[in-house]
Amino acid sequence: MLPDSGSSPPMPTEQDRLKRAAAARALDYVTDGMKLGLGTGSTAEAFIDLLGPRVRGGLKLLCVPTSERTTTYARKLGLSLGNLDDLAPLDLTVDGADEADRELTLIKGAGGALLREKIVARASKRMVVIADESKLVARLGKFTLPVEVLEFGHKTTARHLSEAFTSLGYSNIPITLRQREGAIFKSDSGNVIYDCAMGAITSAAKLAAAISAIPGAVEHGLFIGIATTLLIAHPGEVEVIAGEPAAGQARA
Ligand code: 5RP
Repeated sequence: MLPDSGSSPPMPTEQDRLKRAAAARALDYVTDGMKLGLGTGSTAEAFIDLLGPRVRGGLKLLCVPTSERTTTYARKLGLSLGNLDDLAPLDLTVDGADEADRELTLIKGAGGALLREKIVARASKRMVVIADESKLVARLGKFTLPVEVLEFGHKTTARHLSEAFTSLGYSNIPITLRQREGAIFKSDSGNVIYDCAMGAITSAAKLAAAISAIPGAVEHGLFIGIATTLLIAHPGEVEVIAGEPAAGQARA
């Protein structure tokens, strides 16, 4: 975490320690000269914290942040930042997740950065996901699924989301327009987000396809065939769950 100007930082929780352990393990995947995507959220920031001293010590990296929040954070730590279009394909993206299963399918987006996170990860040869063990699930869906929606007609799009969920057998799904500090939350791209309490997701691929078919649904938080490695921190060990991107999504 960046140093605070006044009061001393709160004591790290066990979950904070696990996030840091996963972040530290991700350093094994970083090599000199890399073009590196930087994720968003507290676990991604734990990773950025560890990069700072290495970069000051001479490690050369060109980084592409996935959000304005990460841009500010990484800049304060002295990382060199670049533009995705100038640098793609990236060698690696390191990011957190809200949920992950052992097939390396993820739910992301609690931090509201899912759209840029997905664009950057998809433009990377590898995506290493770092998380504490609470994020590893047998079946996705306990965590709400964020869907980024164009502001124009967003209530209509939300109705279409509800209809799509019903047609797939997910009935009466609570769909909540995300708020922050009493106002409608806007993503870095100016869109709104609906958090969909799906419950157990039976087929992430079918659900993803149905959402993507709705005009106005800009992107959803299901990452399928994008992550290549999960680093899951348990007390005393970091579990490495490795996989390959799905066919057709293999990245050179
Ligand atoms: C942001 C994300 C984050 O990676 C996800 O919410 C995990 O955050 P944290 O590391 O703080 O638990 O998807 O959009």
